[in-house]
Amino acid sequence: MANPKLCPLLLYIFIILISNLSSQSLESAPSNARSLKGVPRFLGKFTRAIKPYQQNFRYETRFFEQRLDHFSFSDLPKFQQKYLISTEHWVGPQRLGPIFFYCGNEGYIEWFAENTGFVWEIAPQFGAMVVFPEHRYYGESMPYGSGDEAYKNSTTLSYLTAEQALADFAVLLTSLKRNLSAEASPVVLFGGSYGGMLAAWMRLKYPHAAIGALASSAPILQFEDLVPPETFYDIVSNDFRRESTSCFNTIKQSWDVLVSEGKKTNGLMQLTKTFRLCRELNKTNDLSDLVGVCL
Ligand SMILES: *[C@@H]1O[C@H](CO)[C@@H](O)[C@H](O)[C@H]1NC(C)=O
Ligand SMILES: *[C@@H]1O[C@H](CO)[C@@H](O)[C@H](O)[C@H]1NC(C)=O
Ligand SMILES: *[C@@H]1O[C@H](CO)[C@@H](O)[C@H](O)[C@H]1NC(C)=O
Repeated sequence: MANPKLCPLLLYIFIILISNLSSQSLESAPSNARSLKGVPRFLGKFTRAIKPYQQNFRYETRFFEQRLDHFSFSDLPKFQQKYLISTEHWVGPQRLGPIFFYCGNEGYIEWFAENTGFVWEIAPQFGAMVVFPEHRYYGESMPYGSGDEAYKNSTTLSYLTAEQALADFAVLLTSLKRNLSAEASPVVLFGGSYGGMLAAWMRLKYPHAAIGALASSAPILQFEDLVPPETFYDIVSNDFRRESTSCFNTIKQSWDVLVSEGKKTNGLMQLTKTFRLCRELNKTNDLSDLVGVCL
């Protein structure tokens, strides 16, 4: 879960893949946004896209039986994949109402659903159905009956792969469309962070399944042999430098201070207190903490 490679996701990479999604859809959302008074200047041109957003997330929670291994014939135990669905604004199969399909990432799917306002916001304009499937091995979509069993050893964990997760999505989507006689309804994939990578990869691996994918903050090139690991830090540093050289310099100098303070007797303890570090995590709060860090 705390895969460091998945963490540098605050990158402002915003990729719209080969998409038939009308450009109007993407531009119309910010135009509704009212600019806020007193927003910090550093938000720059992104300021106006931020608005207080109130949304009642109304969805139905369902479960769908999945094969543990989509790529073998072995008779493994099946598991239940959770998915959230809203047909509230869907105009139905006859009118080719689209399906907005969010590729769930590493955590409880409700958390992602309730923090992806964009999809809910545009669904009414498009008369779209909204589906949020949970990623296998997260939330309640646990193989082997429980998290303890699923995460037990390398054998039980070997089905936790992006390839299997994509196959889950494809199988679920196919079944859902068939049951609703909505085979002809266009599907648009969404995803953020690792889920954005999944959306992009799904568009590539299952090109017939969706007409487009919106991969938000998706570090699809952030792999050691493609992009140097420091690149993320360079981008973040440049964000600060672009707005204020003195801010950039102050932060840069603070690293040396932190290192020298940390070497003093009780220095680490002092830093821990000052910055309230090393908060204890437990089962009830670890999800939001991890997601907060690794969004
Ligand atoms: C993993 O756990 C399962 C279930 O207890 C067991 O059957 C299997 O032999 C274990 N595999 C390894 C590699 O330890
Ligand atoms: C579609 O219908 C079949 C047969 O009733 C059912 O087993 C399956 O779970 C349904 N699929 C979805 C995604 O609800
Ligand atoms: C876990 O964290 C929650 C929220 O911070 C707290 O209310 C609860 O007492 C903690 N539980 C344990 C067992 O520490």
